[in-house]
Amino acid sequence: MSDMRQNGENSGGISSRKESHVRIVVDDNVSFRSKTTGLESFDIEYVALPEIDAVDIDCSTPFLSKTLRWPLLVTGMTGGYPDAVRINAALARACRRHGIAMGLGSQRQALRSSAYHESYTIARAEAPDIPLLANIGAAEIVAPDGAESARRLVELVRADAIAIHLNALQELLQPEGTPAFRGVLNGIAECVRSLSVPVVVKEVGAGISAAVAKRLLDVGVRYIDVAGAGGTSWAGVELRRANTPHLDELWDAGIPTAQCVQEVCALRSSTADFTCIASGGIASGFDVAKALALGADLAGAARPFLVALETGGEEALDRCFTEWEQQLRASMFIAGVDRVHKLRSVALRDRQGRVLRERAR
Ligand code: FNR
Repeated sequence: MSDMRQNGENSGGISSRKESHVRIVVDDNVSFRSKTTGLESFDIEYVALPEIDAVDIDCSTPFLSKTLRWPLLVTGMTGGYPDAVRINAALARACRRHGIAMGLGSQRQALRSSAYHESYTIARAEAPDIPLLANIGAAEIVAPDGAESARRLVELVRADAIAIHLNALQELLQPEGTPAFRGVLNGIAECVRSLSVPVVVKEVGAGISAAVAKRLLDVGVRYIDVAGAGGTSWAGVELRRANTPHLDELWDAGIPTAQCVQEVCALRSSTADFTCIASGGIASGFDVAKALALGADLAGAARPFLVALETGGEEALDRCFTEWEQQLRASMFIAGVDRVHKLRSVALRDRQGRVLRERAR
C-alpha cells in the first residue's frame, strides 16, 4: 500500500477528525431535533391467531453470499487513529458472536498512510467469517484512480463488499470538507464495473430518495443503504464543530428513513432486483421489524452500538444485540410470521388502528 496517493488532506488531520467524531457522537446529543424516522407512525398488525410456535422462528438472512443469524448490519463508523483498533476489534467480535454484519468507517486515512492500518484490519482478524464492508467516501471516488483505491481498500481488509458513502451535506458543513460531487456517479459506475466485490451505496443520515436510487440502479448498483433522517444528524455533528450558526437549520435536513425505504423499495417492481438496507435512526429490534415490513432486506444502525460500547463496554454491546434480536423475534411472533422475508407481506396499521396495508396473500 506504500504507493497510495499522498495528496489532499494529510493523514494526521483525518485521524484527529475521526477521533473527534466518535467523541461528539458519544458525548453530545447529535440526533435530529424535529424530525423522526417516521417508523413510529406504523404498527405491524397484531395477529391474535399467529399459528406458529415462537421456537420455530428463524431470522436467518442471506447477505453478501453469507448467512446472517438475524438481519442487522452495524454500519460503518471508524478507523484511522490509535483507539479505533479497540473499537473496531470490539465491534467485530460482537458481530461474530451475534451472527451479524459489520461495516468499517471511512478508510480514507489508510490511503494516505499505513500508520493505522491495524485499526481497519483488526476487524477481519477478529471476525474471519462475518460479512465485512470496506468504506470510502464519494469525494475519493471522483479521483481518476478512485476505483483502484477502492480495490486496494477492499484487499487491505479482506472485505465482502465496499460501501461508498454519499455525504454531500456533511462535506458542505465540515470545516475541512470537500463538497465536490461532480463525477461521483461515474466513479461509482467504474467501481461497479471493475471491483470483484459488490458496491453498497449509502448515505450517512440524510437519506436516499427513489430518484437517486434509480440513478444508482441504472449504473448497476445492487445494494442501497438508505441511511435516512431521524437518528444521528451528521449536519449536527459538523455544526457542533464549525462556527456557522446561520446554517443551523440544516441540522434537520434529510428524508426520513421510513419514507426512503418505502419509495426506494417501490422501485423493485420496475427495475432489477436489489438489496435495500434500512438505516438511520433504527433504535430497536421493533424498528428492524417495521423496516423489513416496509420492504427492506435488512436493517442497519451505528450510533446506538457505539454508545453501548463506549458507556458499558463489550458486555453492554452484547446485551444490546441480544435485546434487539429478541424484539425482532417478538414482533415476528405477534405478526404470525416465522421467517424474516414474510414480514414484507404483513398488514400495517396506523397508531389509531386504521389499516394502511392489507396482509398480502
Ligand atoms: C458514522 N457514519 C459513517 N458512515 C460512513 O459511511 N463512513 C464513516 O466513516 C462514518 N463515520 C461515522 C462515525 C460515527 C461515530 C458514527 C456514529 C457514524 C455514519 C453511519 O454509518 C450511519 O449512516 C449514520 O450514523 C446514521 O445511522 P444511526 O447513527 O442513526 O444509526
